[in-house]
Amino acid sequence: MQRTYLVLVFSLLLPLAAHAEEPGDKLAGLAFARRNCTECHAVVAGAQYSPNIKAPTFEAVARTAGMTGRALAVWLQTSHPSMPNIIIGTEDRDNVIAYILSLRSQPAK
Ligand code: HEC
Repeated sequence: MQRTYLVLVFSLLLPLAAHAEEPGDKLAGLAFARRNCTECHAVVAGAQYSPNIKAPTFEAVARTAGMTGRALAVWLQTSHPSMPNIIIGTEDRDNVIAYILSLRSQPAK
């Protein structure tokens, strides 16, 4: 009895947890990335190199083993020497993260 209840609770929570990982709108994220990141990063799938050779393509970022929305959020909140201190609002950040992670589901070449 209790077990059934637990299974039910978990199956209700799982989709929520999956959603919490990628709360953003990936199309808005792509638009944001095109405006703010293309100076250095290749933002669309299929690109081999970024305009700035030191910047990984977003597809490569997405395919990095163990990459998660949380890891990207942390990265985008800290400043890095070779990346300008871009201040990204929470919504833009979630969107761009959703977009980057969506590149992972592109067929590998
Ligand atoms: C002026 C160039 C420049 C711009 C503009 C830029 N980046 Fe970067 N970015 C870099 C470089 C270079 C790296 C490589 C890591 C380093 O040395 O800082 C990097 C690394 C990253 C990484 C980490 C990759 C990893 O595998 O750890 C992420 C994520 C990222 N950039 C996202 C973005 C997003 C999102 C934008 C737009 C809002 C953006 N960058 C704009 C130059 C840039």
